[in-house]
Amino acid sequence: MNILILGSGGREHALAWAVMQNPKCDKLIVAPGNAGIARIAACADLDILDGGLVVTFAEENAIDFVIVGPEAPLAAGVADRLREAGILVFGPSAAAARLEASKSFTKEICDAAGAPTAAYGHFTDAASAKAHVRAQGAPIVVKADGLAAGKGVIIAQTVAEAEAAIDDMFGGQFGAAGAEVVIEEFMEGEEASFFVLCDGETVLPIGTAQDHKRVGDGDTGPNTGGMGAYSPAPVLTDAVAKRALDEIVRPTMAEMTRRGMPYRGVLYAGLMIRDGAPRLVEYNVRFGDPEAQVLMMRLGAQAMDLMHACAEGRLREARVNWADDHAITIVLAARGYPGAYETGGVIGGLDALPETSSEMCFHAGTAERDGRIVATGGRVLNATARGATLAEARDRAYAMAEAIDWPGGFFRRDIGWRALG
Ligand code: AMP
Ligand code: GLY
Repeated sequence: MNILILGSGGREHALAWAVMQNPKCDKLIVAPGNAGIARIAACADLDILDGGLVVTFAEENAIDFVIVGPEAPLAAGVADRLREAGILVFGPSAAAARLEASKSFTKEICDAAGAPTAAYGHFTDAASAKAHVRAQGAPIVVKADGLAAGKGVIIAQTVAEAEAAIDDMFGGQFGAAGAEVVIEEFMEGEEASFFVLCDGETVLPIGTAQDHKRVGDGDTGPNTGGMGAYSPAPVLTDAVAKRALDEIVRPTMAEMTRRGMPYRGVLYAGLMIRDGAPRLVEYNVRFGDPEAQVLMMRLGAQAMDLMHACAEGRLREARVNWADDHAITIVLAARGYPGAYETGGVIGGLDALPETSSEMCFHAGTAERDGRIVATGGRVLNATARGATLAEARDRAYAMAEAIDWPGGFFRRDIGWRALG
């Protein structure tokens, strides 16, 4: 099978790494890819937000199967264009991708499905949003309705903070994404991520994870795209996962199908768990980044078979071959991230890192210049390892992170602390 993966981050490197291990993969192209991906697959320069271009590229390269990594091409309808052209694709339609692209849409679906989530209000002007905040009090959560690259959520500790966030959003801070605002009850509990595949009918759980969103040790400092993750998430016990499936995920999928927009792809449910009861924080219509790195490390080559079965509507006959293992990934980021940071710094020591079925340094933001690997993004590398225990996986991953010679980078020292006790 000739496969095309769309995207350029650590998630896509992990997807490519898993796909390459599957003997059914004859040829793999990743567009646009990065310097790490280029070591294991062909990379192609392609505007992945342009569905017409992606279809033409797939046809010219005899691609049998396209895996879409990030949310932006999904929201832009790239999976729809591929399906219309008769090309097999893993990833939901633009209509179904609204589960991530519109928070008010997701809330409406949850209401219709009876899925437990935070109480909310949906506003199109600042005055009524502020009146709602004053009536509810703080803490309270203010969210831009649309895609805001993970930055459109403000947890306001005071009413004044919430009012300022409302002004910022309606003032255009997040562009069109903030033209509508959702205001939510602040939920307490422990957060975890639950990943399922869905082919429009069958829902198949493929793993759980927890990430560390804050930049600093002890979960301090500003929010980031994620500084590390591990799988499985101990808080998502079998009993909690069953409740999440029965009360949240399956009713949502059924409601999507009922509305004529069956969901096909991976659904990432962000859950808040308290006293064994899960509530939905948000849906994402893609794998998480860096959560995909730990999921792929655990699933290995079967990940491709599962995504392929999902795309072909054969999930009913698919089985996950579960291993009793643990995986962890440590994000190496550029100094200054998530604020301003420098790019172009040379990274050494990568060639000496182990590359096994249990240890891999995925690249998230790198390029090759004059034969050397340089940093090109905020999150740059993901030292990822697997072990019989989380402690073993952690020791392996940190040994890799320590061995990387990159003066311009940093990483958290406590990834996994909650699960390691
Ligand atoms: P989101 O972009 O919706 O994932 O929100 C980013 C983060 O904000 C989540 O991962 C949670 O940590 C937090 N968050 C979002 N909504 C709520 C809520 N209603 N209550 C508590 N925390 C929330
Ligand atoms: N790590 C969080 C996300 O991918 O949305």
